[in-house]
Amino acid sequence: MMSTSSTTSSNSRPTMTVVNGRLPQIATPSHYDLTFTQVDLEGFTFSGTVVMSLTRSSTAEAVDHSSLVVHARELQLLSSTLTRKSDDSSFQAVEFRYQLHHETCEIVFDSSPWTTTSGPSNTDTECTLTMEFCGILNDQMAGFYRSQYTDLQGRCITMASTQFEPTDARRAFPCWDEPALKATFQMTVILPNHQLQAISNTPIISSHTTMSTSNQTLIKTVRFDKTPKMSTYLVALVIGQFDSISTTSPQSQIQTTVYTRPGKAAQGQFCLDTASQCLDFLQDTYGVPYPLGKSDLIGIADFAAGAMENWGCVTYREAKILVTAGTSTTMKRGIARTVCHELAHQWFGNLVTPEFWTQLWLKEGVARFMEFVALEHLFPEWKPWEEFVQSVYNLALSLDSLESSHPVEVVVTHSDEINEIFDAISYAKGASIIRMLCHYIGKQTFMDGMRLYLQRHAYGNTTSEDFWAALAEVSGKPCVKFMEPWTKLMGFPLLQLIQDDNNSKITMTTNQFRSSNTAASSTENTTTKEWPMPVTARVEGSDKVFGPWVLHGPDHDDSEAFLKQLEEWSAGNKWFKLNVDQHAFFRVNYTPQQWSRLANAMTSLSVTDQLGLVGDSFAAGKFGYASIVDSLKLVEGFGEHDTAEYVVWQELAGNLSTLASLYRSEPYYPQFQDYVKKLFAKQAGILGWESSPDESARTGTLRGSVLRMMGIANDAETKAEGYKRFMELTRMPSLEGAVSGDIQRVLFHLALKHDEATVFPALKRVVEEHAGLSPETQRDCLVVMGSVHDAKFHNEMLEYVFFSGKVRHQDVAFPLSALSGGSDQGGRATWNFFVQNYHKLRLMLGAGFLWRDVVGVSARGLRTLKEAQEAEDFFKDPKHPVGSGARRLQQALEVVRNQAGRIERDREALTKFFQA
Ligand code: BES
Ligand code: ZN
Repeated sequence: MMSTSSTTSSNSRPTMTVVNGRLPQIATPSHYDLTFTQVDLEGFTFSGTVVMSLTRSSTAEAVDHSSLVVHARELQLLSSTLTRKSDDSSFQAVEFRYQLHHETCEIVFDSSPWTTTSGPSNTDTECTLTMEFCGILNDQMAGFYRSQYTDLQGRCITMASTQFEPTDARRAFPCWDEPALKATFQMTVILPNHQLQAISNTPIISSHTTMSTSNQTLIKTVRFDKTPKMSTYLVALVIGQFDSISTTSPQSQIQTTVYTRPGKAAQGQFCLDTASQCLDFLQDTYGVPYPLGKSDLIGIADFAAGAMENWGCVTYREAKILVTAGTSTTMKRGIARTVCHELAHQWFGNLVTPEFWTQLWLKEGVARFMEFVALEHLFPEWKPWEEFVQSVYNLALSLDSLESSHPVEVVVTHSDEINEIFDAISYAKGASIIRMLCHYIGKQTFMDGMRLYLQRHAYGNTTSEDFWAALAEVSGKPCVKFMEPWTKLMGFPLLQLIQDDNNSKITMTTNQFRSSNTAASSTENTTTKEWPMPVTARVEGSDKVFGPWVLHGPDHDDSEAFLKQLEEWSAGNKWFKLNVDQHAFFRVNYTPQQWSRLANAMTSLSVTDQLGLVGDSFAAGKFGYASIVDSLKLVEGFGEHDTAEYVVWQELAGNLSTLASLYRSEPYYPQFQDYVKKLFAKQAGILGWESSPDESARTGTLRGSVLRMMGIANDAETKAEGYKRFMELTRMPSLEGAVSGDIQRVLFHLALKHDEATVFPALKRVVEEHAGLSPETQRDCLVVMGSVHDAKFHNEMLEYVFFSGKVRHQDVAFPLSALSGGSDQGGRATWNFFVQNYHKLRLMLGAGFLWRDVVGVSARGLRTLKEAQEAEDFFKDPKHPVGSGARRLQQALEVVRNQAGRIERDREALTKFFQA
């Protein structure tokens, strides 16, 4: 950090500062004319000038301020002049006071611009603020940063990109870096070399090549069109050399372009097609024309997130944009989801923007929901909503069961806290409660409300209430009261049914679902939080969906009628399944008698209902509401079916592999493996190793999961076959595309399990020697290397991941997570490594979400209460600040402690079960 003055000042002038993470509103910007006068891709520096139009409202704080506060971080302000429009008088900055903690700079002028000779102005003051600044093209993947790759000729190429969300525009230029301070932007960039290209939010309006006066080289000045009114975090600039492919959407006539590093543009075809179709679909759905002149997708070699929705200029990590014949269908689905997600933001997020980061969930939750709405239109054969329940909905419930979860809407101020909430609560719970509301008011009505909201708030900022208000208006339903408990309270309810002894009367409780240990010991459990729950039901012998009964509704409570209906069905000995297709956000625990009726009826239920029952049952076992043995019995029968459904098997595989890592050191583990094998053997036989040309889009993924489970079950034959196939692969001239992408990773896994001593080094050779490996293959190799059991490889692996220079920072969490979760020793080694290298890692990973993820993953592999305490103590030491990893750490340690408790708790029952 460079600074021209110290942070604190003995000066008598009042120092204005940030309060609750917000800048003092002395004046607000309406336009930024931003020029990067120099971007040095060799020296890794940049400099620029920004000319802002500001308005000081006459009603702003009356104090006679002679300063302004702007955001700036790792940026040096060189000069600043403020000119008042009314009389052209100028004010020079005499001091820059940086406040490192707040990431701001107070610009102190020689006198107050807001007072004239006739005293304080009582009309709005228009002025222009000009600033010169310079900074470093950093390697932290945040702000204005450099990214490097090796080209086809083996040369190291440097490019530059921006990543501003959430709070890093301030690292590229001084600004009012808050989402509500929207302005227009017009960007100019002077490129040091005329072969470089520059891409920004808007189309280029002029580009001139001239001779540089300083060093006689050709430089290029590129000027972009003025943007619409927008937030700072959505501004983007990318500089480098690219290949591209383009198409024009048939309806909107908007041109979509995919930019990749040279030689890879053809691999952008899948994204191009998806994006261009999705744009037309969303424009129809949202009912508001796409407001930018073009829509770009750009692959960046180093990229911290998956993708970023910069308006008109979406940036992607390369793994999320390049598709080849070898790409797995899982990856391809993920890519399509990402494309749809970022496009969904072009309206929901970019046109209408959350007022502050406290409302982050509003854009991220809705965009995650809209991913599936768009996918359903573009790829109905993928059955996206089944995938939603299996992945998004289940993930949300599972994280939200922890005491260290948080409400969907959470007050955040510092940028560390802001980074923390880009998590499954904002995304997955956000999307799940939106889906619940959409189902409750009806999809058509929901989309009408969406259109109303977007039109009403275009180019503005909103809170959740504004969205609920629009939905209430079109639906006539009390959306605010219905939704508020879901966004403001952490957790969710468990609908627990209880039947009395003579089996006639049914009662229920709707307390918060949380670990039973906590629930029992906590007084808070007795204070019932009342979430409005729309409950639907299916019953034996009828095609009808019954309900919804609204329990604890905003204006009424259907509990009585609901229970009466259940009693009637129960008296008729019928099974009933509640929460049809898992539309509402709660779990159900039935009476033992109902569970057994449902177990028998299982395969006659819809796929999502099967999924729901399996999920509810394993969750009950996990959190102590029931025995895990009940869950194992419930799903035992699945092994006999020939035609089981994809997502149900995915769900079984997910739950059982979690149990496998939980029980892996228990004496009964071999019997557990036998159980798994029995469950999956028939499917493994049916699916085989080779895909057939006419199989459905999801069969490939299922094949991969089933083979993986056979590996977890330690099936010698499967492992040996995997090894044989892997060795054949390593003899091929290129690994790429030699095997179906869907089973590539599992092949590596099986081979490693069969013989670590040869396969670990073989995988390492693949990573090192095959230039131009696809991002997915590289990730597969690293993840599988990470899951090595033999402790002698653990430190080698950790050193390799962090310090060999072979693994991009963006990718370290994948192998790290495999190592910390793969074995007790691996978990321990990861934590020890983290402790020993704390300072180096913190410096290397910066303060954003890379650091956050590494903290979480490193702590998560611990196994005992004592170790959890050790980790907690480590971060209590002021020498080891946890930074943006605070919440991840708490969540990881809670999981570690829960797991330690579960192993003890389940031991007896499982030993008995497996003896029988
Ligand atoms: N707005 C985010 C990108 C982002 C994430 C910025 C975290 C800053 C911090 C983007 O819209 C997003 O959600 N990206 C996802 C990809 C996805 C939804 C498939 C991501 O990066 O994981
Ligand atoms: Zn997003």
